[in-house]
Amino acid sequence: MEKDDAKTCGPIVFRIYVDPLYINHVTRRCLLCNCKEPRNINMAMDDLNGKVALVTGASSGIGAATAILFARRGAKLSLTGRNEVNLQRVGDECVRVGPANTERPFMVVADLCCEADVANLVDATIKKFGRLDILINNAGIVELSTIETASLEQFDRVMRVNVKSAFQLTTLCIPHLIATRGNIVNVSSIAGSRSLAGMHVYGMSKSAMDQMTSCTALELASKGVRVNSVNPGDLYT
Ligand SMILES: NC(=O)c1ccc[n+]([C@@H]2O[C@H](COP(=O)([O-])OP(=O)(O)OC[C@H]3O[C@@H](n4cnc5c(N)ncnc54)[C@H](OP(=O)(O)O)[C@@H]3O)[C@@H](O)[C@H]2O)c1
Repeated sequence: MEKDDAKTCGPIVFRIYVDPLYINHVTRRCLLCNCKEPRNINMAMDDLNGKVALVTGASSGIGAATAILFARRGAKLSLTGRNEVNLQRVGDECVRVGPANTERPFMVVADLCCEADVANLVDATIKKFGRLDILINNAGIVELSTIETASLEQFDRVMRVNVKSAFQLTTLCIPHLIATRGNIVNVSSIAGSRSLAGMHVYGMSKSAMDQMTSCTALELASKGVRVNSVNPGDLYT
């Protein structure tokens, strides 16, 4: 047995760090015991045929790319964003790349800052599909500020989108994810784990998301729900 193997715990939760200065340097650390990624995790994405995935921020950028990738893998999708035109475009692309007879994604136009919209999103998704296997908390906003320039209004705005909406959505989805022994992926940022100048409030919001990821992972591991974050560096979206 290799030395590293002895250190792995076979975790079902881990965090990926991508260092923007060393873009090829990707490390994974287990959230349970900080061991390295165990050998028994199959990093190839499984076939998602029949899985129901809810993706927030699916009208643009990372969320749109995630939706399209999941469609290609055969997932049934519930996509949400505020921009309906963009959402429809992503839906078209999902149908184009998906397996033959791919169902058009279910689309819910919602402002995640509105609690009623978040509740409706979950209700409508469950009504449509009857189950939920994967939640991707991706929607977020980036605002630059320092401790000298940030305002309370900015703090509330960024926290509301990046933290509170994901928290509310997660709490509402948990019973459904426990039922399917499902997965949550939170799209965080390198700014959550590193202190980057000019990203004061944004970094705080992503640190909060990382803490939510760790706590939820620990709390739900025994119920078979995997909870991970991805912490990208700069991406052109
Ligand atoms: N791009 C990067 O360099 C980078 C790096 C690290 C982490 N991230 C994180 O990755 C995630 C996606 O970023 P991105 O670059 O793909 O951004 P993006 O292209 O600007 O997309 C953001 C998505 O979030 C949605 N959204 C924002 N506010 C919303 C609200 N109040 N209600 C509902 N939906 C809302 C947007 O929907 P509408 O457009 O329809 O309003 C859009 O679909 C974010 O959490 C971001 O913090 C990005």
